Amino acid sequence: MAEGYRFVRHLRQRRKAEHIDAVRALPDGRFGPWFEYVHLIPASAPEYDWADVDLSTTFCGRHLASPVLINAMTGGTSAALAINRRLARAARRYGLAMAVGSSTAALEDPDVTPTYTVVRDEYPDGVVLANVGMGTRLEAARQAVALLRADMLQVHWNAAQELFMVEGDRRFRGALAAFATVARHVGVPVIAKEVGQGLSGEAARQFAQAGAAAVDVGGAGGTNFLAVESWRQGEVLDPAWAHWGIPTAAAVVEAVAAVGAQVDVVASGGIRHALDVAKALALGAKVAGIAGPLLRLAAEPDGEARLDAYLAGLHRDLRRVLLLTGARTWTELRERPVLVLGPLREWLEARGLGPVIALRGWFAEPGPADRRSRAGPRTAARGPD
Ligand SMILES: Cc1cc2nc3c(=O)[nH]c(=O)nc-3n(C[C@H](O)[C@H](O)[C@H](O)COP(=O)(O)O)c2cc1C
Repeated sequence: MAEGYRFVRHLRQRRKAEHIDAVRALPDGRFGPWFEYVHLIPASAPEYDWADVDLSTTFCGRHLASPVLINAMTGGTSAALAINRRLARAARRYGLAMAVGSSTAALEDPDVTPTYTVVRDEYPDGVVLANVGMGTRLEAARQAVALLRADMLQVHWNAAQELFMVEGDRRFRGALAAFATVARHVGVPVIAKEVGQGLSGEAARQFAQAGAAAVDVGGAGGTNFLAVESWRQGEVLDPAWAHWGIPTAAAVVEAVAAVGAQVDVVASGGIRHALDVAKALALGAKVAGIAGPLLRLAAEPDGEARLDAYLAGLHRDLRRVLLLTGARTWTELRERPVLVLGPLREWLEARGLGPVIALRGWFAEPGPADRRSRAGPRTAARGPD
C-alpha cells in the first residue's frame, strides 16, 4: 500500500475518533434551532385515548413506527463499533430508521468494515441508511449501499466543515453533477443532507432537481461542526462564526415550501425533545433526525440503558404532545393551529415566505406582511427562488 494512501486512511480514522471526543466535550452550538418560536395550541378536550395515538410516519416510501431517525454519526474505530452496536439495538427496540457515519473509511479499509456492518447485523430488518460525502462517485456509492444492504443513501454536504478542517476539501466543482448521477442510478432513494449549517430553500430545490428523494435540512442549533473542527485544532470557534447558518425551524419551512410537494423533508440539527420533533412535523417534516445527544449517551459505559431511558421518555412525550393538541396522527397535527412568532417569523417573511405561512394559517392574528400577502394572489405561496 502506498505510504500516502496509508497516511490518509490513518488521518481519517483519527478524525473519526476526535469527532466523538469533541462532540462529547462540547455543548450544542450557540445558535438555537428556533423551535421556541413555534407554538402548538393545546386542545383542552382531546377526544382521543392514549391507545389511539399513532406515532408512525412514512419516509421515502417506507412505513416507520416512529418519526425519529438516528442520524449519521460514526464508524471506522473501535469506539465506533460499540457505539453503533448500541445505537442499532436502540433503533430496533423503537422501530427507528438509522443512518451510519460516512462509509468512506469502510470502503478504504476492510479491517474497519465490521464497525459499520454491526448495524445491519443488529437490525436485520430495519430501515438502515448508508452515508457518503458530496462528490462521491456512483461506484463508491453503490459499494456503500451494498455493504449495509442499505435501504436509502444519505449524501452529506458539509462545505463549511471542510473549510474549517485543516485537511478538508477545497474542491467542490462537479459535486452536484456527481450527486445527480448517484441519485438516478444507485438504486435506492437518495437523501441530500446538511450537517448543521442548514439547507436553504434554494439548495433544497437544487437537490430535488438533481433527483434527491428527500432533503435533510441539517440546520444550525445543535452539533456545530465549525466548533468541532476548531476543537480538533485546540481552538475555540471564533464567536463571529457561531451564528453562521440557518436555524433548523427556519430551514424546515424553507425546504417544505420549496420542495415539500415533491420530496420528503427531514428536520435535523438541535432536535432534542419530543416537542422539537412534534413542531418539526407540524411544519411539514416527515421525520426528525437526532445525532449528538444519542452519541453522548451511547458512549457511556451504561450507554444501552441510557439510550433506552432517553428514547422511552421521548416517545412517551410524543404521545403526550399529539393527545394534547387533539391529534391522533402526524397528519392530524398538521391540520391543527401552529403559531410562528419572533425572529423565526421575521426570517420567513424576509425570505418571501409570508404567503406560505398565511396560507397554512400559522398566525392567529395576521402580521403586516401577512395582511399584504393575503391581499395578493394565493399562488404567491412559493419558496425562495
Ligand atoms: C460524532 C458525529 C459524527 C458525525 N458524522 C457524520 C457523518 O459521517 N456524515 C454525516 O452526514 N453527518 C455526520 N454527523 C452529523 C449529524 O448527522 C447531524 O447532521 C448533526 O450532528 C446535527 O444533528 P444534532 O444537532 O442532532 O447532532 C455527525 C455527527 C456527530 C455528532
